[in-house]
Amino acid sequence: MKNKLKLVKIKFPVNEPKIFDLEKKNVLKCLNTGWISSQGKFVTEFEKKFANFNKRKFGISVSSGTAALEIALKSLNLKKNDEVIIPTFTIISSIICIIKLGLKPVLVDSNIDNWNMSIEETLKKINRKTKAIIITHIYGFPVNMEKILYVAKKRGIKIIEDAAEMIGQKYKNKMCGSYGDISTFSFYANKHITTGEGGMILTNNKNVYLKSKSLRNLCFGEINRFNHDDIGYNYRFTNIQAAIGCAQLKNIKWIVKRKMEIGNRYYKQLKNNKNLFIQKPFNKYSKNIYWIVGILIYNKKGINKKIIVKKLRKKGIETRDFFYPMHKQNIIQKLKIFKKKEKYPVSEKLFKQGFYLPSGLNIKNREIDTICKYLNKITNFSS
Ligand SMILES: Cc1ncc(COP(=O)(O)O)c(C=O)c1O
Repeated sequence: MKNKLKLVKIKFPVNEPKIFDLEKKNVLKCLNTGWISSQGKFVTEFEKKFANFNKRKFGISVSSGTAALEIALKSLNLKKNDEVIIPTFTIISSIICIIKLGLKPVLVDSNIDNWNMSIEETLKKINRKTKAIIITHIYGFPVNMEKILYVAKKRGIKIIEDAAEMIGQKYKNKMCGSYGDISTFSFYANKHITTGEGGMILTNNKNVYLKSKSLRNLCFGEINRFNHDDIGYNYRFTNIQAAIGCAQLKNIKWIVKRKMEIGNRYYKQLKNNKNLFIQKPFNKYSKNIYWIVGILIYNKKGINKKIIVKKLRKKGIETRDFFYPMHKQNIIQKLKIFKKKEKYPVSEKLFKQGFYLPSGLNIKNREIDTICKYLNKITNFSS
């Protein structure tokens, strides 16, 4: 069965990057002038423009969103076993950097309404060992951060805002990624703007800026270049990546608008289907920018996520599973990081029932309509 499915041509990819003409022109400029490494004017231009766009003072470009999280956390100079709160329902990058830096991850479950980390649970898990919280915005809605930000400020807890999926999103009329002490972004090919691979750290704090810049580039010495100041990384971002980023950023308003149109079009056609759930275009504090268009399949006789995903795949409609929660990961269990078996029922339900549909910028309206029609059919729903 597996092999047969592999032979079915993908007609509707889950995502494809949209590359405009300016990206190509900018890349050619790098190739023609030889500025292809991490040196070059596009790097500083992109950092400045991306920081300005998000109303932050400093931007430090890096090789990925994962690298951004690791440098951001290391720049806080936390002590061994200091606790860092993260959602269990996220990508593995956050917990990896916590473990690598000798810190202690503390997990929280998600809300069922917006799929983001639970504020109530986060507040309950704060104690005197809590030194940082990675507020992670998931899939489309920002975290309703107000209370956490207030408590964190009062208690001197640092906030890293993981805005990898939230480029161009706002929370209470200010950009996502402009709230934390530090914020991080990803420019992987499926993000709102892409540089192929890549990431960014933003901050208003000059010390964090200088430390992050140094960490990204092997902490070369100030006086004797090859006498290094700390254990750093080569997480540099290239001029070619930045050339693509500068061009992409010009279209960010159109990109966010089109992503919302895609999400709204799916929503209109799937919202009445009683056998699945799709997030609304708005909630009470924010719009949904639909980084991805995710759905949950309600388990009924003959209908569950596995069956539906297989049927979609047979029609050439590609899907992607939701995140596999951190407490369920084999590697995390093997490392015995958590003393007792931890349970986070909402995140487990999201993985069990959730996946996302084709929602890249190249998708056409009529393709969305075809997917919805078929999805409604195979979930026994007729509109
Ligand atoms: C919330 C979140 N944080 C971090 C990352 C890591 O970014 P990258 O793939 O660029 O390392 C991702 C990637 O999708 C993500 O979704």
